Amino acid sequence: MYLALYRKFRPTNFDSMIGQEHVTRTLRNQIQRGQIGHAYLFCGSRGTGKTTAAKIFARAINCEHPVNGSPCGECATCKALQQANAIDIIEIDAASNNGVDEIRDLREKIKYAPSVGKYKVYIIDEVHMLSVGAFNALLKTLEEPPSHAVFILATTEVHKLPATILSRVMRFDFKLVSTEEIAGLLRKIFDESNIKCDDSSIRLIASAGEGSVRDALSIADMCASFCDNDIKYDAVIDVLGINKRDTILSLAEAVLTDDIVGFFNNFHKIVAEGKNLTLTANELTKTFRDMLVVRSCGKDSALLDWPANLLDKLESLANNHDIVRINRAMQAFSKVEGELKYSTNPQLSIETTAMSLLSAEVKKN
Ligand SMILES: Nc1ncnc2c1ncn2[C@@H]1O[C@H](COP(=O)(O)OP(=O)(O)OP(=O)(O)O)[C@@H](O)[C@H]1O
Ligand SMILES: [Mg+2]
Ligand SMILES: [Zn+2]
Repeated sequence: MYLALYRKFRPTNFDSMIGQEHVTRTLRNQIQRGQIGHAYLFCGSRGTGKTTAAKIFARAINCEHPVNGSPCGECATCKALQQANAIDIIEIDAASNNGVDEIRDLREKIKYAPSVGKYKVYIIDEVHMLSVGAFNALLKTLEEPPSHAVFILATTEVHKLPATILSRVMRFDFKLVSTEEIAGLLRKIFDESNIKCDDSSIRLIASAGEGSVRDALSIADMCASFCDNDIKYDAVIDVLGINKRDTILSLAEAVLTDDIVGFFNNFHKIVAEGKNLTLTANELTKTFRDMLVVRSCGKDSALLDWPANLLDKLESLANNHDIVRINRAMQAFSKVEGELKYSTNPQLSIETTAMSLLSAEVKKN
């Protein structure tokens, strides 16, 4: 059976998690000192490691001899808890129903001691989806849980949680993961899986994840099967449904050089190909942003995901144009990107933005 990369590479210890050191360090310390709280809240963007960390923590607090705060994976308890049906780690998905029955069931059974380890761990995923009734039932349990019970609540939408819950949990905020860290993980996974991929393609995939490790891994999966495990830059572009990089660069160049004809010609091609114009505005914003990066950090910066053959052009555009003008273009396209979903004519909105960026001399004629 084919196992998706994000499932195959779900970390089983804190060391193999990336980007969340501020969370994992505290959790490890608590395990090493034996100071386990009774209720935790893991919140933050999707695909950043909340459920993964909850499962590692659940095993680590039960492990007979944790290694550096992570589960050893070898002791009898670890082995028992690795089973999919381990009864001491109870996962409740609040999204699949409103949870009243689950929470009621939880309250009845929580008093029974754990069967293998020291703790019974309740992981309540998407906890913001619980109904009011279920929240109230949960609250009573959170107020006076038996000493062997630990709760880990996880959610992407912490603002939907009632204050009564928030005040009873230890809160950990998971961050979006940087492109560089995701790129590093992709490199490791590709090497282990014998998937070929050059560095600029890796960075392109990593940045398309927009901070979500899971999204980046899903995109990597699609690219690997699309390319038969030899990933090429242009194929990643196709999988992502974005514009060819040279097209976008020409468009940006036209904006900076007052080349009205060039702009309309290139943009017309994009529209004719039926490309997503919100994405296109986003790609333009990023291109101007990347020019600023090249100017300040150089073209070898890991913050860039351009193919090698276009980097020189990006650099010369960046160095030959006024930084104020590049900056203004970046802001204008970023603004129109946000406005496009309300626009009745996205094509015209982008054209208007481009024309508003023409230099004063051209506007006079
Ligand atoms: N910080 C991370 N380090 C390494 N891999 C990660 C990390 N975060 C996510 N992943 C990868 O993404 C997959 C999904 O992560 P996980 O289920 O923990 O995300 P989540 O934060 O719970 O997302 P959601 O909010 O959608 O439930 C994992 O199996 C793992 O492969
Ligand atoms: Mg989750
Ligand atoms: Zn163990």
